Order: sequence, then C-alpha cells, then structure tokens
Amino acid sequence: MKEWSREERYKVLESADQIKDLYESISKSVYRQAYHVQPITGLSSDPNGFTYLNGTWHLFYQWTPWGAVHGLKYWYHVTSKDLISWKNEGVGLHPDTIYDNKGCHSGSAICKDDELYFFYTGNHRNENWERTPWTCAAKLVDGKPVKLEKPLFGPRDDYSEHQRDPKVFYNEEKQMYYIFIGAQTLDLKGCVQVYKSKDLLSGWEFAGQLKVPGYESFGGMWECPCIERIGDTDILLFSPQYTKLPGRSESTNHNVYLLGKMDFDTLTFTPNGEYKHLDYGFDFYAAQLASNVQDKDKAIIISWIGLPDNHYPTEEEDYEGSMTLPRELRIVDGKLIQTPLQEMEALRKKEIKELSRQCELLVDVNDASFDLNLFTKENGEGGIRLHYEEGKGIEIDRTGLDKRFNEKVGEVLTVPVEKLTSLQIFVDHSSIEYFINGGEAVFTSHMYPTQEEMHYTMSDNASLTIYELTSSVSDDFVV
Ligand code: FRU
Repeated sequence: MKEWSREERYKVLESADQIKDLYESISKSVYRQAYHVQPITGLSSDPNGFTYLNGTWHLFYQWTPWGAVHGLKYWYHVTSKDLISWKNEGVGLHPDTIYDNKGCHSGSAICKDDELYFFYTGNHRNENWERTPWTCAAKLVDGKPVKLEKPLFGPRDDYSEHQRDPKVFYNEEKQMYYIFIGAQTLDLKGCVQVYKSKDLLSGWEFAGQLKVPGYESFGGMWECPCIERIGDTDILLFSPQYTKLPGRSESTNHNVYLLGKMDFDTLTFTPNGEYKHLDYGFDFYAAQLASNVQDKDKAIIISWIGLPDNHYPTEEEDYEGSMTLPRELRIVDGKLIQTPLQEMEALRKKEIKELSRQCELLVDVNDASFDLNLFTKENGEGGIRLHYEEGKGIEIDRTGLDKRFNEKVGEVLTVPVEKLTSLQIFVDHSSIEYFINGGEAVFTSHMYPTQEEMHYTMSDNASLTIYELTSSVSDDFVV
C-alpha cells in the first residue's frame, strides 16, 4: 500500500493535464463501473448536493483527484435526466478560499424559486493543522456552483471540532429554513446541531441540539445527518462513527435510520421503533436523500460504496469508491422499503446463462434454506457466498474471493430477515447490491472478481433469470 505524505494528499489540482495520464491508465482497469457513478481518478466518497431541478438531477461527490486516499476534497459534479444515465460535468466546488483551504467537505442542496443553492462544510486548517469547520453556501450559475463570499456561520465552541455536513431543508409549517449539522459533543458523543433562519442565505441562528430519545449515547460522531418526510412518517438518517454495533463485526462506521416524528417546536425526533441499518452490506456509508423529489410519498437516496478507514484492491490502480444505485424509499405498513428504480429495466440487454461483469439476477426462492454462490471458480469453490436458513437470516460471506480486503473489519455479515422469498441483484465490475424481498433489506458490497471467478452455483430449489446490462455512465475525462 502506498504511503502518502500530507503534502501529496493535500496538493491543489492546478490543471486537468496533471491527472490526464492517471485517467488514461485507470480507464483501462477491468474494475471500472459501467452503470454506477465513479471517480475519473482518485477517490470518491460521500454523495453531496443531490437535487432535482427543471428536468435535471444534480449529484456531486467528495473527490480527491490524486489517488485512492482521503486528502484535499473537491465536489465533483455529475448530472442525469433519469437517474440511470449519468454525465461527468467536472469539478463543482474547488477548495480555493481561506474558509475551505483544506477541503470542500460534505453538504446538501435546496431549490428555491427555480434556483439551486448548495450548503457545504469549508474545512479550514491553520499552519498548526487546527481545524475550523465553516458552513458555506454557493448558488448554481450557468451550470456551476458559485460560492458566497462569506460563510453563513462558524463552529460553536461548546462542541468538539467535529461539526460538519449541513443538510438544508425548508419546513412549510414553520415557514423556516433549517440546517442539520453532524456533530460531536465535548464529551465525545455523536449528535445533530439544528440551525434555523427565515432567509436562506442570511440570518442563521443556532436553535439547539436535536433530541433523539434513546440515542443520547450512540456513537462518537454522527456524520451526514439527513431528514425527510415520506407520506406522514419522518425519517432520520445518519452515519454514527467510532462505535461497534451488534451484528456488524468489527466495523466502527455505520449508516442507520430511524422512523418517527419530528417536532420543530421542541427540536425532538421521536423514533417509533429501534434504529435499523440502511444497508446490511460491508461497504455503504454517508447516504444522502435527494431534495426536491416531486412525489411526497417517496424519497430517493444514493450512497457511497465504501467506508472511511477501509482499503480496497483498486488502490493499487489509484482509484476507488463508487456511488450506489439511486434507490426509491417508501413506507409500506410502517416499514421502510428500498427498491431500485423501475427505469433500471431499460438497461436489460438480453437474457444470459452465465455470469457477466455487468448483469442483473432475479431469483425466486421458495424453501426454508437456499444457497447462491457468485463469482466462484469453475469447480464451484470460493466466490461471494450467500446462505439462507429460515429463522437464521441470510449470511453473506466474501472470504472466498481471490482478492480479499478489509479482513479485520469483517468479511461475513448477516441480514436479519425472517423469510427469504426473492432477490434482485445488481452486479457491476466492482460492486454487488442485493435487494432482498422486494426491498425489505439491502446488502451492498465491493468485490473484485478475477477472470477465473466468473462462475456461480445455486441450490436447485429456486428459479434464476440473468440479464446482461448495458452501460449507462459516461467515463469521459472532464475536469
Ligand atoms: C463522511 C465525511 C464527512 C465529511 C467528508 C469529508 O465520510 O467524513 O463527515 O464532510 O467525509 O470528505
């Protein structure tokens, strides 16, 4: 694994030429995704500023250009008309002011009067490497975010330095804009700060800390908080860090949600049940809900396939990370259901009998136990192995793949479903997403099969259809 100095990680990108050769070699990699958004070079992490405006979806992601390493973060911009085909638009936000000199960190977007506004964390560090996180804003002008001259507000000194990832939204009832900020208290507990303002670009004041009964001590930092109303249920998402959670092996980074009710008078989110994992897989973090989704009964999320502090085999090729497929979220019988978009069906090229590096698998299961082992050797050994037993849930084990990674974090995880009836699985060159029982649970993982691992085995008590999928994400060099 390459060692990066701070200078190398935080080098400013002066011109596209500096990464052109890197892009040329990376674009030949067998693990480049075909229908998932991925970085042209370097590292992509959190999705940012995900919004719909006048027929176009805008999405940004945290981007370090130089290699698969967390360093100086840019917002890289992609757009789509249908959430399926994506086009590279180049850098959206450059870390080029005093307030964001060491990175434009995560944030969100909002539409007002047909204009698009972005809210992000300016990661300032001084010469002693001490951090000041500023909450900054920008407005989309001629397709590019243009920054406001001054930040909206700075950090509070009654919290630790971890105060970032503004999620902006408007509350009709209160006729008020709100910003949720992921934060850490001085005694190192994860929490959400709430700011409010009548105006979008001025007058922001601290309203208080979000109360979430039962979650006063749940992880050391809540990254990327997000809130939305789906029908008459509120959903709160966040990524608690620095803690282990039951059933999640050694991982200390998670992405959970609570369903419940948000009360803006008391700043209380009252959950109506236990927290749940947005995704039961190995590599899923910092999910963001799209803003300005026209249908009040659904929400759309996208997330980073990857985790902080983890390492992936394509690091050697100087890139890593990808976005998940966008997912539709609905509440059915009080439960969250996550499904791929219906429009994904348009990517089906033809039915095939073998596995391919870009395919979709549909499985109907009708038994108390079931096995599906993908990307095995010709003799059926190895691969990423799924085993279901009624009453015990679904276990997914990636120890059998030739290219193993993040072994210490855990390579076997269980999805707690009562009964398995169906699977819809999306395979792209370096990722796999299992949608279980029509979206009751989802499991996302990176994987890097070798040419010898293009086989599968399945128990004979299920039916399987495989579709080869066409590519839908452009891999053009746009900086
Ligand atoms: C989450 C995160 C955010 C931060 C960003 C920096 O992965 O740590 O809290 O804004 O990444 O890239």
